[in-house]
Amino acid sequence: MMKLFRMLKPYRIPIIFILGLVLLQSLAELYLPTLMADIVNFGIVKGDVPYIWQIGGWMLVIAIAGTACSVIASYLSSRTAGGFAKQLRSRVFRHVENFSLQEFDKLGTASLITRTTNDITQVQNVLTMMLRMMIMAPMMCIGGIFMAVSQDAKLSTIFLVVLPVLAGAIALIGAKGLPLFKQIQKKLDRLNLVLREQLTGIRVVRSFNRGEHERVRFNGANTDLRDASIKVNVLMATLMPVMMLVMNFSMIAILYFGGQRIDSGNMDIGSLIAFIQYAMQIMFSLIMVSIIFVMIPRASASAERINEVLDMQPDLSDPEQPRSMKSLQGTIEFDNVTFRYPGAENAALSGISFTARPGETTAIIGGTGSGKSTLLSLIPRFYDVTEGSVRVNGTDVRELSQEDLRAKIGFVPQKAVLFTGTIAENIRHGKDDATMEEVIHAARTAQAENFISEMKDGYDSLIAQGGNNVSGGQKQRLSIARALVRRPEVYIFDDSFSALDFKTDAKLRAALKSETTEAAVLIVAQRVSTVMDADRILVMDEGRIVGSGTHKELLANNEVYREIVSSQLTEEEIA
Ligand SMILES: Nc1ncnc2c1ncn2[C@@H]1O[C@H](COP(=O)(O)OP(=O)(O)O)[C@@H](O)[C@H]1O
Ligand SMILES: [Mg+2]
Repeated sequence: MMKLFRMLKPYRIPIIFILGLVLLQSLAELYLPTLMADIVNFGIVKGDVPYIWQIGGWMLVIAIAGTACSVIASYLSSRTAGGFAKQLRSRVFRHVENFSLQEFDKLGTASLITRTTNDITQVQNVLTMMLRMMIMAPMMCIGGIFMAVSQDAKLSTIFLVVLPVLAGAIALIGAKGLPLFKQIQKKLDRLNLVLREQLTGIRVVRSFNRGEHERVRFNGANTDLRDASIKVNVLMATLMPVMMLVMNFSMIAILYFGGQRIDSGNMDIGSLIAFIQYAMQIMFSLIMVSIIFVMIPRASASAERINEVLDMQPDLSDPEQPRSMKSLQGTIEFDNVTFRYPGAENAALSGISFTARPGETTAIIGGTGSGKSTLLSLIPRFYDVTEGSVRVNGTDVRELSQEDLRAKIGFVPQKAVLFTGTIAENIRHGKDDATMEEVIHAARTAQAENFISEMKDGYDSLIAQGGNNVSGGQKQRLSIARALVRRPEVYIFDDSFSALDFKTDAKLRAALKSETTEAAVLIVAQRVSTVMDADRILVMDEGRIVGSGTHKELLANNEVYREIVSSQLTEEEIA
């Protein structure tokens, strides 16, 4: 947690202010009982009314000043902790943005969300508390003991018995609490995961009548979280009354022994009153410490989880001196590429070699799981190859900065993803400064213009979360338009025409042809009709290229391709 608190540097000045104010506040509170003792001893007992007024006035002034310090310190500490949390959240967010897909696979999206929200809030809360109590608690404890001793040293021996007992209780909370708090954060992760899956998959849950199953799963995670929380609360619930009991017994002891000392003339009444107040302050400071002890383990469990994210170095990093690519615009070369997913036993791709040249369309066809999407994901360098190399425009992708590389690529993923916002905004995700003409042109090429103009607000129509208010085919066309608007040198379509009808599919590819005369186009498809007129077709099977050539060539001499074709087309379509 200290590591995170190093990020508090910019808040040095308010923090010094807060600590100073809290110091003043504790001094004021420590001084009041002594004044009280004076009023009783010298004012009330001797009947000196002006003295009572004078000291009483002082007490009022000091009390008001102490309260003012406390209010300002509270305000400043909330502000500081709030600002710190905001800064931390954006730092985590920025760091996570740089993760490669491997890190996302490792940590999980749900956990990343809990870490950015809940965990940071925990740290923020403890910071607010600490800023105030870090000074307050030791001041009140040590100062209180000091003042109590100065009122009556003999009576103070009571603390020798009481304080170790309280300290032991606090240590116990610290030792037992920490593992429990770690558990709680894990369970919260799990709950978020279940909830997320369920809410994003609500259509599937409904249609398969999995509501009951999901309810059971949610209840399981929910109960788990409750049980862990109960354990913590049981710990607190047993320790708190014990501490109160110790405190009340010590009060009785103080009154009993103090009374005896007053009887024997060794102590003034006023001093006993002040002594009792100091005893209260000391014990409340210990309760403060115990609260800190409860919060710190919880927050440090959270801090650890945040640090885990911040310390995770993306597997893929930019080279020290990224090369610039100029030559060979619009080419993709795979040179004997083998790729294994981290932790996977078998290679997802092996011995892949091919070249896609500018103005050519290279199509990839093959059964599901044959490695088509995997092959495409190596081009924008979502993953690094295990062996061999992938070159874009003649340069190995590992020698380029990721930003430069991806700026050249128009990627249409297998699963179309849209963001909340208008249609125009979604298309502009491809190119922030695209003019309206460019947006419309891209939409027209993507065959999206018709349905967009039929919508009430045209390009300003709002897309709901996850693009749920447009059809699958419309979603695909918008995500194609988003890739087209950047006019990239490399086009990648991962099964992006699957939700289009044959006619739209053909029209789109024809329109695309004139756009891509100087770019490499890679199309993955399941439908033979989509790939038939490509310049080259690669046939994939179990991570290997088992055939390469035009439709005619492959029909003549490739068994796998023939099988795919005959399962889809009628005799006359083939010929
Ligand atoms: N993120 C991943 N981690 C581990 N294995 C994966 C991952 N994605 C895909 N695979 C595996 O790689 C193989 C190829 O998958 P994929 O490229 O998606 O096939 P296709 O797109 O041809 O249907 C499959 O066997 C799949 O199980
Ligand atoms: Mg795929």
